[in-house]
Amino acid sequence: MSLPDEVARLKREALERIGKTDSLASLKELQVLYLGRKGLLTAVLKGLKDLPVDERRHVGGQANQCRRQLEEEFKQAAGRFASPASHTLIDPTLPGTGQRLGAAHIVSQTIDEICRIFYGMGFEIARGPDVETDYYNFEALNFPPDHPARDMQDTFFVEGGRLLRTHTTPVQSRELEKRKPPMKIITPGKCFRNEAISTRAHVSFHQVDGFLVDEDVSMADMKGALVAFCKAFFGEGLKLKFRPSYFPFTEPSAEVDIQCFLCRGKGCRVCQHTGWLEILGCGMIDPAVLEKAGHDPEKYTGYAFGVGVERPAMLKYRIDDIRLFFNNDVRFLRQFI
Ligand code: DAH
Repeated sequence: MSLPDEVARLKREALERIGKTDSLASLKELQVLYLGRKGLLTAVLKGLKDLPVDERRHVGGQANQCRRQLEEEFKQAAGRFASPASHTLIDPTLPGTGQRLGAAHIVSQTIDEICRIFYGMGFEIARGPDVETDYYNFEALNFPPDHPARDMQDTFFVEGGRLLRTHTTPVQSRELEKRKPPMKIITPGKCFRNEAISTRAHVSFHQVDGFLVDEDVSMADMKGALVAFCKAFFGEGLKLKFRPSYFPFTEPSAEVDIQCFLCRGKGCRVCQHTGWLEILGCGMIDPAVLEKAGHDPEKYTGYAFGVGVERPAMLKYRIDDIRLFFNNDVRFLRQFI
């Protein structure tokens, strides 16, 4: 076979094999086989030197053109095996990136749940400021300036004589002052106390207070509402205990304990082996509080209560460290979506 024929045959053969390669590695091998230093085309071209000068120039030109064409073909073919990162390639088998839906924080969910239960009993919702005056936080609630009851609440004071409210009861002072009975209100919100942070206490927490003022309101009305709330929030079939207590703004005052729903009263670590869990404070609004707000205590009576939010949520969802609510660790929060 003449040299030009041999070159043309190699070219045809190489093109055909390029078309059939199915991987970048075999394409590279093929390139070395035809165009490498010891490759087939290179070997054939070595025979050029034996040709007469005229013919050598002609055939040499043809052979070089063939080499360039094959180089181009190899380059194009390599493009077929470009990495999948290339924009034109879509791999429909890859898992999707997905959209994660956000959700209300478990503290907000618990506040909503508490509010929903009272809303269902006809309570309205009112809110007040986190930064309060001494008057609404203490004085209007019957805490005299040097009364030892102020020690119950370690207060954070801010500039200008104001303070971070230590409970949500000041919203009761404000609403009592603004409205005329009958009123039936719940007041959810944030509270602050200068406490040592531990598994059970935090400097910032939430409460939902509630109160009702009307003619002829009795302690039985209060008991009815609070028993209904406890059943709705914690479930049926648990005993409740109204235990005498003290708050400056209620007289008489009580605290409600619920039978521990983990051990059903037998005694366990959660209820500290008492069989009972303390969940809220309540009482009949002290006549002095009604009077300060401009209502006649001879005509009107009322009851009030204050429920913590984190504590019942910890009990209900078996959370053993209050700090988890405030760390914003999504692994914790995602459990309550
Ligand atoms: N403010 C009280 C506290 O933070 C809780 C409380 C008790 C609120 C009795 C009330 C109430 O409205 O009547 O400990």
